[in-house]
Amino acid sequence: MSLIEIKDLKVHYPIRSGFWNRITDSVRAVDGVSFNIEAGETYGLVGESGSGKSTTGKSVVGLEKVTSGSIMYKGLDITKAENRRKLDYNHDVQMIFQDSLSSLNPRKRIEDIIAEPLRNFEHLSKDDEKLRVLQLLNIVGLDADALYKYPHQFSGGQRQRIGVARAVATNPKLIIADEPVSALDLSVQAQVLNFMKKIQREFGISYLFISHDLGVVRHMCNNIAIMNRGRLVEIGTRDDIYNHPLHIYTKRLLAAIPETDVNSREAHRASRLAVEQVYQDQQSKYYDENGAAYPLVQVTPTHAVALPQTIAQQLASQEGEVQA
Ligand SMILES: Nc1ncnc2c1ncn2[C@@H]1O[C@H](COP(=O)(O)OP(=O)(O)OP(=O)(O)O)[C@@H](O)[C@H]1O
Ligand SMILES: [Mg+2]
Repeated sequence: MSLIEIKDLKVHYPIRSGFWNRITDSVRAVDGVSFNIEAGETYGLVGESGSGKSTTGKSVVGLEKVTSGSIMYKGLDITKAENRRKLDYNHDVQMIFQDSLSSLNPRKRIEDIIAEPLRNFEHLSKDDEKLRVLQLLNIVGLDADALYKYPHQFSGGQRQRIGVARAVATNPKLIIADEPVSALDLSVQAQVLNFMKKIQREFGISYLFISHDLGVVRHMCNNIAIMNRGRLVEIGTRDDIYNHPLHIYTKRLLAAIPETDVNSREAHRASRLAVEQVYQDQQSKYYDENGAAYPLVQVTPTHAVALPQTIAQQLASQEGEVQA
């Protein structure tokens, strides 16, 4: 059994308009998403801005009211509040938010911010609590004098590390990391990612790692789902996604990874333009008449793509993949 099993998750937001403010339509932020996260793994959820990644993440921590579908944890559906209470779910699953400045209370000192989940769930003595907060600061590479400072006194990278410390405080089973390093420059990104990996090794935590950048996810994730307009268009292992991408949207995200080698920049630019041309020309092959992604079909035991079965098989055989 997987740690978390997400099945046909839908989150639709109502759109109200007109004089009576009636519900006239809905934004299908998440529209039938299914995937599983195994214990101890880092699962990547990747897509462009607005594709529904944060909404999916917030649903998994129980912060979003879902329209339909289920999220199973220890045999219970945690989309229902009573099951979350029964399982002590908020202790086991934590979130690192996309925007570190607004997710850390500006009026609270770091000591209180990191201690908050401990105060909610583990009733430690004052001394033990302080010791624990100091340990957590140490794990993410911050000094003890951080205790008495406020969030605005830190850099973006330091604040993101404070977010990591707070998320791991209760020793959770799963952390939803929503674009944990997107706002940081490259050297600081590597630092925060290394802390996250170290913590994973030490505590056996699973991550749902959300990003718009396939370049960042590459070094973190064993399995990856590609999200596009509320749906998953491709699921696979790291090798499936990076070496045998099948959906044009995945290819487009891969082509958008910046090329750092100056010598191959021109070739990279040419291949990016070629992918963009295919994307423009072949939309009708990859999306149905309403512009929505098709249901996923399995092409190998690990690899699935949102295409009609025949086209999926054809592309997979061109890629050298065969149905097992
Ligand atoms: N509370 C809300 N009410 C109405 N629409 C919403 C709400 N929250 C999100 N949306 C819409 O749902 C869609 C998905 O939003 P979401 O924040 O999940 O995207 P995202 O993939 O995390 O994007 P980003 O990379 O920019 O963070 C967007 O079109 C957004 O405008
Ligand atoms: Mg987001």
